[in-house]
Amino acid sequence: MEFIKVNNAFDTHIALIQLSRPKELNALNLQLMSELRDALKVLDNDDNVRVILITGNEKAFAAGADIKQMAGKTMIDMWKIDQFSTWDQIRRTKKPLIAAVSGFALGGGCELAMTCDMIVASETAKFGQPEIKIGVIPGAGGTQRLTKTIGKARAMEMVLTGKFISAQEALDYGLINKVVPVELYLEAAVSLAKEIASMSPIAVQLAKEAVNRSFETHLDEGLTLERKNFYLAFASEDQKEGMQAFIEKRKAVYKGK
Ligand code: CAA
Repeated sequence: MEFIKVNNAFDTHIALIQLSRPKELNALNLQLMSELRDALKVLDNDDNVRVILITGNEKAFAAGADIKQMAGKTMIDMWKIDQFSTWDQIRRTKKPLIAAVSGFALGGGCELAMTCDMIVASETAKFGQPEIKIGVIPGAGGTQRLTKTIGKARAMEMVLTGKFISAQEALDYGLINKVVPVELYLEAAVSLAKEIASMSPIAVQLAKEAVNRSFETHLDEGLTLERKNFYLAFASEDQKEGMQAFIEKRKAVYKGK
């Protein structure tokens, strides 16, 4: 492992993965992502480990995918490299993942934090999807997870302007779980991990899966259900009464039929 460090010095049930390309602000090159995927797979299969933390350093959680590695690539190169299959495997980790974020969490860095199940941040953390500024768009879930979590208006503004939000804003928007002073962010993440690690690991994994399922339901499915139910309303007397009352400018009397 060249670009990540794994340790579980805090607690036998908690593993910590540190992204480690500090000079490049932990830019997520292909090797780093493969190492992360492999480490997660090992930890996911290790019965001693119950919760996995992912962190960077004080200056950067990760400043995004490695722009230098991508800059000269063609569309076909990118398609063949298929970097997001690695992300899909990371997403399938069964154990809870907590991101401990300080400094920049941008582009793929923000997406990696959002791929985790919870985010604990230092007051210095900055979240953003600045891909638009380099002529591309988020590719590792940014347009989807951010929008579902913080709402269309805010996500649209972040994705279309590339503006960063502070840790406090991220907390207010429901993107993250906690903001603490910079010297405490790792400690706070470990303490959250310890609380979860004290629960039944089976129940925890089942619960994680269930919460994620709700989060991942497609808008298409939701809209289809909505439409069916809209049509079903036309099977009721109350629909006739409600619309008729409107036309006759009187108060509707509903019977629940
Ligand atoms: N890729 C490659 N190298 C990066 C990088 C990235 N995403 N982010 C930072 N670096 C490198 C810089 O090139 C610089 O290297 P050199 O010293 O060799 O020049 C080094 O890290 C330090 O960075 P800066 O000098 O720029 O540091 P700064 O403090 O002035 O600025 C920053 C920090 C605002 C985060 C700035 O580095 C920046 O804007 N980075 C790019 C952010 C970005 O656009 N991320 C999205 C990437 S695309 C993506 O992620 C697609 C996807 O959805 C998967």
